Amino acid sequence: MDNKIRVSTILRRKSEEVKITALTAYDYTFGYLIDEAGVDLILVGDSCGNVCAGYETTLPVTVEEMIYHTRSVKRGVKRALLVADMPFMSYQETIEQALHNAGRFMKEGSAEAVKLEGGEHICTTVRRMVDIGIPVMGHLGFTPQSVHEFGGYKIRGKDEKEAARIKQDALALQDAGAFSIVLEKVPSLLAKEISESLKIPTIGIGAGPDCDGQILVSYDLLGLYDKMNLKFVRRYANLGEEVRNAVANYCHDIKNNTFPSDKESY
Ligand code: KIV
Repeated sequence: MDNKIRVSTILRRKSEEVKITALTAYDYTFGYLIDEAGVDLILVGDSCGNVCAGYETTLPVTVEEMIYHTRSVKRGVKRALLVADMPFMSYQETIEQALHNAGRFMKEGSAEAVKLEGGEHICTTVRRMVDIGIPVMGHLGFTPQSVHEFGGYKIRGKDEKEAARIKQDALALQDAGAFSIVLEKVPSLLAKEISESLKIPTIGIGAGPDCDGQILVSYDLLGLYDKMNLKFVRRYANLGEEVRNAVANYCHDIKNNTFPSDKESY
């Protein structure tokens, strides 16, 4: 398919100064709809732990669950680059463990790249993955798998020391061969500086307008998940309300014996 988005397309977008569009998806139907709408990159995020499984954090999500979601999304996606999130403790133990699990995402999930959270300390792992042909996306700033270490859903990189750390981590990930980096919940100015210092694109979420692309959790953008009121989310639809109304109308029609009608019966 000649309009297929590949890692090289994502890299080219930066040099051509064309913004990268990205969204999460967790199943076939949303994968299909989001792909048809023309998004460049679809991330099967471990945020499925929050929005699909109802966990408080992403920590309980397993490799098996992520492979199931990735495989489901893949069946609906033709054009977008498909990236799978590696869940907590699926790449942190040893390099062998990380390579084994990343390989599973590519073979069993049909992912085209994987995403890992963390900076310098995971760069040897990133390098090995890239060397064997597994494209890697980094993730810096607020990294949800470290929520307990951070002590909550806080903005990262507000003080100079932490900002310097994130900048250094971004360069290290680039040197290790990552093809892009998600910057989550960091001040806009820091995201701008990092984006300007890198050859690879940054994809922002709560990181201001100067990243090379933007990503959101699809359920947030669509108004399906309203448990968290996040400043950086722009809600483009209110599907949660639509679902409640549709289901209430359905119940009403059954109770009043107006569903099914003759036309809806055999
Ligand atoms: O899991 C996720 O959805 C993410 C984000 C970047 C949106 O990591």
